[in-house]
Amino acid sequence: MRTEMTALRQLIMGFRITQLIHVAAKLDLADHLARKPQTAGDLAPLVKADPAALYRLLRALASIGVFAESAGGVFAMTPMAEWLQSDRPGSLRSTAMLYGDEILWDAYGRLSQAVADGTPAFDHLYRQPFYRYLDQNPASAALFHEAMTGFSEQEAGAILAAYDFSALRSIVDVGGGQGALMAALLGAHRQLHAVIFDRSPPDDEVKGVFTRAELQGRARFVQGDFFDGVPGGADLHILKSILHNWNDTAAITILRKCREAMSARGRMLIVERVVPAGDGPAEAKLFDINMMVTVGGQERTEAEYAALLNAAGLELAGVIPTNSPLSLIEALPRSRD
Ligand SMILES: C[S@@+](CC[C@H](N)C(=O)[O-])C[C@H]1O[C@@H](n2cnc3c(N)ncnc32)[C@H](O)[C@@H]1O
Repeated sequence: MRTEMTALRQLIMGFRITQLIHVAAKLDLADHLARKPQTAGDLAPLVKADPAALYRLLRALASIGVFAESAGGVFAMTPMAEWLQSDRPGSLRSTAMLYGDEILWDAYGRLSQAVADGTPAFDHLYRQPFYRYLDQNPASAALFHEAMTGFSEQEAGAILAAYDFSALRSIVDVGGGQGALMAALLGAHRQLHAVIFDRSPPDDEVKGVFTRAELQGRARFVQGDFFDGVPGGADLHILKSILHNWNDTAAITILRKCREAMSARGRMLIVERVVPAGDGPAEAKLFDINMMVTVGGQERTEAEYAALLNAAGLELAGVIPTNSPLSLIEALPRSRD
């Protein structure tokens, strides 16, 4: 077969791999196999699976480098499988859980509808916008926030390394979710205090993280809606993976609310995947489709972020790349406003 034909066949059939890894995460196969290599027959009762079907799942996973099969049908970990272990810092287990879950999977199944009319597929499927659906479906909300925490844990190191937080004393994390980024920042910078502002409350386990000795008393969760206003009085407002959830009108409103809360000397960091020029590969271009099918947001170019900031009384101070797909877009209040 021609090389391009083989490559395209694999791309066309790529959906299978998402579900294979999703089910491996759901059944905690990596946690079980990290304890000891096992056969499908040994594992099946532990994960409540049919032994023959579980063998076929594991064999397919081993064929793509997630787990390894040796003589006698014994399955063991591989370096890739280690990233599915639940207790590994930066674990991809929650990402695998989200990507195969119906809230993302079913929305992708309606991509053609989103392309046809430009409205989020999720709204057609669930008859309500994504975040309102999460308000009413605690299990989906928990899965989503766990995945966002996972992303932040995977990305925090790159953000910390790219920006000098040492002169700052206070931060508001706008749409800060379960506070994973602030936990990393406060852990690295003892002088910092943070407000984690979100429409969703933190779960009890998360509150526990911030009672650890080194973080105690330095983080506060505030519940609210950033379309109504955001807490002020901070050196820095940070918005990580927030603006890409919204269309331009909504994104400008969020930025204006932040601008109203910022002092004249305040700074803003927008943490997003900036769409690069050219037609090369970029994570931003595929995340953009996630935004299209779920929330009706979009990934943006640097010029598009500059325009949003300008419309909200802010100005772009610079774009700082990180050692991850994310960039830090630094903004300041526009001096004449
Ligand atoms: C994509 S997540 C990003 C979470 C976190 N910043 C991170 O990067 O891990 C977007 C967050 O915005 C929050 N959010 C959505 N709508 C909101 C609103 N109207 N007011 C405040 N928070 C909101 C969600 O609850 C969620 O935690």
